[in-house]
Amino acid sequence: MIKFSQSAEAMRSSAIRELMKLASAPNLITFTGGMPNNELFPTEEIDEIYQNLPLDVKRTGFQYGPTPGYPPLRESLKEFLRQKGLPVDRNELIITTGSLQAINLVAKIFIDPGDRVITENPAFIGAISVFNSYMGQLDPVDVDEEGIILPDLEKALDNKSPAAKILYLTPYFHNPAGIVYSQKRKSELLDMLKGKNIILLEDDAYGELYFDKKDSELTTPMKTIQEEPVPICYTTSLSKYVGPGLRLGCLLAPPDIYEKCELAKQSMDACSSTFTQVLVHEFLAQNKMSGYLEKLRNEYLQRSQIMLTALQENMPEKVTWTKPRGGFYIWVQLPENMDATDLLKKSIAGGAVFVIGKTFDPLGKKNNCFRLAFSHTPKEKIEEGVKIIANALKELMI
Ligand SMILES: Cc1ncc(COP(=O)(O)O)c(C=O)c1O
Repeated sequence: MIKFSQSAEAMRSSAIRELMKLASAPNLITFTGGMPNNELFPTEEIDEIYQNLPLDVKRTGFQYGPTPGYPPLRESLKEFLRQKGLPVDRNELIITTGSLQAINLVAKIFIDPGDRVITENPAFIGAISVFNSYMGQLDPVDVDEEGIILPDLEKALDNKSPAAKILYLTPYFHNPAGIVYSQKRKSELLDMLKGKNIILLEDDAYGELYFDKKDSELTTPMKTIQEEPVPICYTTSLSKYVGPGLRLGCLLAPPDIYEKCELAKQSMDACSSTFTQVLVHEFLAQNKMSGYLEKLRNEYLQRSQIMLTALQENMPEKVTWTKPRGGFYIWVQLPENMDATDLLKKSIAGGAVFVIGKTFDPLGKKNNCFRLAFSHTPKEKIEEGVKIIANALKELMI
């Protein structure tokens, strides 16, 4: 047998995956998937868009396209980002196959085996696997309700060797922690980064999904700052807004970083799906996005409220959870001595499933916590599912 590469050797099927196999039984109420609700997809709008496309544009959709993206979509996405205050003119935009590919590109061009990457704890599991696949050394820093904890981040930035190359953050409706960074934390963080030799990778997959218009200010990206203290690579995605099956995201990066990313993408997939890029361009250009986002905000607000009420009414004392202001997730904290794996097994037996905390710990340890996604579950099932978990927890606490 030919020996696998070092990075392939480092890949492991986790115990979590084995556990999740138990969760495939029919009729389980699942709070696992960080995905939109199927009924919310804009199928009618996309049908209409496709029907009305000129034949030559339909044909373009079936063809390979330029690596940085279908030119009309690059322009319409730039406009979308410009409206968020992002500096699209000083930077370059590359359309990626989901924002996971944007994270992958930045990791690929910077991370050699052993290079240190600072992440939050908990952190998005997809990014953890990307950094692991390049054999980066993960250095997680805890978050509180306002964002990454700065004194701990300072230690990770200054006192360790080798110096970290990437700081990866998901400040807006965090997956899985459910938080949004406060303005104060963001500005102190940017101050702290002055003079450091590091890339800030700012992952904004959910920022448009705030529940209250007033909170839209909280999701102003750090990349909008006039003078970047360090190079900021900003990524966003169409997955949580229009649909993950499109596999479209983008990366806004300084020109030198963009150039390397373009080269790296050429060897990954040559271009992202032209077909879905054509459709999304029309969706944006025909001004269908803002009304559609309004509808989503309202729907996810309702789902989050149903889940919060169910938690409030059913969870035993000593259990706490985040109150989301947007996005898809609630992060539940169990008492120190409890293990979410025990709870998961009992909940699955009762008919409900969620994702245990250590899935999102870059070091795979902390497990007295778990993630509930309210985005995908049918509204009428949320309360019942939360009750099952709460009852399982009460039995374990006896
Ligand atoms: C924080 C975060 N970033 C990035 C992604 C990747 O999404 P996609 O590759 O579908 O754009 C996800 C998906 O769950 C996410 O939660």
